[in-house]
Parts: sequence; structure tokens; C-alpha cells
Amino acid sequence: MNKIEFLDLGKQPITNNFLDTQYPKDEFFYNLKVVFDEKSKLVSLKNFVPPEKMFNETYAHRASMSKTMRIAYKNLSDKLKKKFNTESILEIGSNDGVFLRNFNSKNVVGVEPCKNLAEITNSQSIKTYDNFWDLNLSKKIHKEHGNFDLIYSANTISHIHDLNEAILAVENLLDKNGTFVIEDPSLSEVLKKNSYDQFYDEHAYVFSATSISNLLNLSDMEIFDIEKLSTHGGSNRYFIKKKIGNQTINENVIKTLNEEKEIGIERIETYQKFSLNVKKSKDELFKIFENLKKNKKRVIGYGATYKSSTVLNYCNLNTDFIEFFIDTTENKQGKFTPGSHIPIKKPLPDILKNVNYAYLGAWNFKNEIFEKEKEYIETGGKFITHVPKPMIL
Ligand code: TYD
Repeated sequence: MNKIEFLDLGKQPITNNFLDTQYPKDEFFYNLKVVFDEKSKLVSLKNFVPPEKMFNETYAHRASMSKTMRIAYKNLSDKLKKKFNTESILEIGSNDGVFLRNFNSKNVVGVEPCKNLAEITNSQSIKTYDNFWDLNLSKKIHKEHGNFDLIYSANTISHIHDLNEAILAVENLLDKNGTFVIEDPSLSEVLKKNSYDQFYDEHAYVFSATSISNLLNLSDMEIFDIEKLSTHGGSNRYFIKKKIGNQTINENVIKTLNEEKEIGIERIETYQKFSLNVKKSKDELFKIFENLKKNKKRVIGYGATYKSSTVLNYCNLNTDFIEFFIDTTENKQGKFTPGSHIPIKKPLPDILKNVNYAYLGAWNFKNEIFEKEKEYIETGGKFITHVPKPMIL
């Protein structure tokens, strides 16, 4: 047994299961435990949640709802167009088309198992397969569209339980000199920021360059470049090619692998220490909320993220401590947070009036939010965060 458990985040709900009623009769919970594979260096959930429970027609996350993300995808598409020959593009996990809509190449194809989202892009004339990513689908797409010179996947490969098959399915469709780009939260950043909320049902894995590199050893592909990104609280963008491909390998690949080695990404002791820091974070965050409650402060939540679901349920934070959440995503509004049952409201203009503290569920958008909420801050409103450690801002 190579997998060693190092973190137990307790009973957790499906993060995407925003509730219609505050006290549902039956809500699905599972034990969120995290393990480290000593051989592959992969960090993953111990118990995977069945994909159909998470990715279905009620999926709430709409990537195009955030200005930061819209701009980021527009810039990325411009950059990729310049850097690579992008005659044909496939996106795995195309959400509502926020990335693909920037291309008018001959062959643009999306894959998105959440039917509500696939419908949006299909209606915008982007051919979208509403299936899970696997070898069968890859073969079907190959028959209908041939090879692709760019295959892009942001925040999706880490959701796929059978990684070996997912990688082989990509290899099957990638042109000889094609590029496969993966973007996912970075394990180094999780360790540095103590952002344990990157662990939740959908994030079956949190990748490092080390584990991706080991994973690719099972195929005929390799990493040729890595970019560090600020999105989703710190992500890596891996550029992958076929070994026979003509791209040159950038020296930052070795540099990143060495950096990871230095912070102990290959050693179980690193994760055991992280686990102790997570427990400390829980106690400290709870104390902050307890104190504010004692002092009768009005506290709300800002951004009902999937990440925050892990924090709320792990730290036992509910309506005793947080009056309501505000969130710009329409299909979260009027619902209740999974497991913690906190109401989610639309951020109407005066909603922050008389609010004293707002817990940053969307801490990854801190700058965008601080910019937007200048008035709240100027009139004495404060924010609470748990990243990199529990504190009031
Ligand atoms: P996201 O970054 O996708 O995090 P996760 O993957 O953990 O769910 O979600 C950000 C959420 O925050 C999304 O529901 C929109 C919300 N949000 C606001 O309500 N107001 C804002 O100003 C911003 C930037 C985000």
C-alpha cells in the first residue's frame, strides 16, 4: 500500500449541491480524507465521490460570471493563437464556453458533461459533447474531427478519477506536433498558503509538476513548459507535447521540479506537517467567529465558493456565525450552502450596509472584491480570511 492518509477534513457534502431548502431531509455526505502516494507522488482524495453526483444538469459554476476569469481567458486565447498553430482546438471541461468563444478556428470542439452548460455552448455553434472524458469519447471525436493541434483543459483533469485513461485519451487525439495544456491548482501553493480548501469532492487530485511528470511517464508525452498562475488561488499551467514533437523543453521545467523537491513535495513528512497547520487554522478561524458572535457583530460570507464548503463544514461554521452569503452567480442565489445551510443572497446595492465583517469565501478574488467594495471598506467594513492564516483584514 503506497497511499498514506495525512489529512481528515471530516464529513463533507457535495460542494455543488446548493440546497433549495435550509433543512433538507436527506443530504449526501462522505468522509473527506486526503492521501499521498509515495510512488507516484500524487496527492488525492481517499474516497472518490461518484462523478454523476457532482457533474450533472444542476451544475452551478459558470466560468464566465467573473470579470477576472473572462479577461484571463481572452488574454490566454490571444497568447495561444500567437504561440501555436491553432487550426483545431479541443477543450476538456468547456463549462459555458468562456475560453472557446474566443476562437473562430475551423475546428473548435468542447467536452462538457454538465448538460446545462453543454447546451449553452452548443447553442453558440460550438460543437460540444455532453459526456465524461474517456477513451471511448476520444475515439468517437477522432472519427468525427481527426487530430487536434491544441487540447486545453483548465480545472478538469484533476477531477477525473482514472488519470491514466484520461491521459491516453488525450494522446489519441493530439497531433504529432500538437500541444496539450493543463491548468490546475498547484500543490506547492496549497502547502505555502495552507489553503486546505482546495480539497473537496471535485478535486480528486491536487497536482504538482512532479506528479504530472510521473503520470506522463505512462504515456509518450512530456512537459515542455510550465507557467505559474494566480488563478484559483495559485495554479500551474503545464504545456505538454508528444516526445516525438518538435517543441523545445524550457529550462523552467527542471527548475520547477527542483523547487518542489526543495519544499518536500516528495516526502510524507511535508504533508504531516501541513495537516498540523490545517488543524491549527481550524481552531484559530473558529475563535475569530466565536469572538465576533460574542461581541454581537454582523458577519456575512462573501462568495459561496466550492472551496468555502470545505472550510464551513470542517470548522463547524453555520448560521450561528454567518448570517448569509452573497454571491453573483444567479443559480446559487436563493439557495443554501451545502452541509452548513447558510442562505445565499444576491448582492443588491445596499446589502453590505451595517455589515461589520465579511468572510472571504472567494479569497482567490480578493483584489477584485476589494476594488469593488471600496465603500464598504471605507465605512469600516472588514473582511475575514483563513489564507494564509486566519485573520481579519
Ligand atoms: P470560484 O473562484 O470558482 O471558486 P470555487 O471553484 O471554489 O467555487 O468561485 C468564485 C465565486 O465567488 C463565484 O460563485 C462567484 C463569487 N463571486 C462573487 O460573488 N462576487 C465577486 O465579486 C467575485 C469575484 C466572485
